[in-house]
Amino acid sequence: SNAITNDFVIDDRLVEKNFKPREDFSHKGTYGRITIIAGSYGKIGAAVLSTKAALKTGAGLTFTLAPRCGYEILQTSCPEAMFIEGGNQFVSQFEIEKDSVCGIGPGLGTEPETEKNFLQFLKEYSEPLILDADALNIISRDEKNIKLIPQKSIITPHPKEFERLFGSTADSFQRVELARKKASELQIYIILKDHHTQVITPEGKVFYNITGNSGLAKGGSGDILTGILTSFLAQGYSEENTGVLGVWFHGKAADMAAGKHSKEAMLPTDVISEFGNVFDELN
Ligand code: APR
Ligand code: MG
Repeated sequence: SNAITNDFVIDDRLVEKNFKPREDFSHKGTYGRITIIAGSYGKIGAAVLSTKAALKTGAGLTFTLAPRCGYEILQTSCPEAMFIEGGNQFVSQFEIEKDSVCGIGPGLGTEPETEKNFLQFLKEYSEPLILDADALNIISRDEKNIKLIPQKSIITPHPKEFERLFGSTADSFQRVELARKKASELQIYIILKDHHTQVITPEGKVFYNITGNSGLAKGGSGDILTGILTSFLAQGYSEENTGVLGVWFHGKAADMAAGKHSKEAMLPTDVISEFGNVFDELN
């Protein structure tokens, strides 16, 4: 960690300092309410993965707003989460649960009705959001949309999604510098997902993650990160600590999954199954 350059490595010491163990005298209200908005016909798995990741990282009460075609799948695979019907084959209404922290995007699709109602929702909403995948792809379609992102939101683009949002850069160093500029301009947190994921704050700090492995290079890995981040933010972590702890946690679980199953065979579901072991190490 270097105080002069504002660049930090997410090491064990930083993680231990940020982690808050669960309180004995607490109830589900202590750990926040969340709404995951995800999924469309053929991509209900994205909603399942982000919901399950949120449930398994300690959120108090979890709602999933998804299309009707995901109802049985979600209620069966994630019985602890409540279902809100947001459309038929894809999400076309964004009525989020009161007082909940909201993560939007995995498998959402970019149907015109989804796009129109999501942008309308953004115009009226001012709390920090977790924005990923198709939420970012919709925003990318018009430069004017970028200003609709509420301040203090956390966005989680992979390199291609980052490029769609903010334009191309020559290399990963220039990408970080562009992200620093955009995070400051927009007053948002940018999580640049990559082999060494970077968390960039509105103040210009950059945190480099060193957990994780190429076993994560599979569809569904990013959906899990969205669930983790939404859950941590709802549990009262600051946006910065949510980002730092979230990417470290995601990668740590992936490293444990690779140890058991190999990088090739490990699936995002196996990564979620390691969450308990990561918490054991933290507690
Ligand atoms: N080393 C370490 N971490 C990696 C590696 C690697 N080689 N490859 C990927 N990861 C991690 C990233 O850091 C990130 O956290 O896995 C995650 C991948 O996230 P995404 O790129 O969002 O992948 P995915 O889950 O497939 O996204 C699902 O949403 O973003 C859209 O178009 C995308 O259809 C896709 C869907
Ligand atoms: Mg993704």
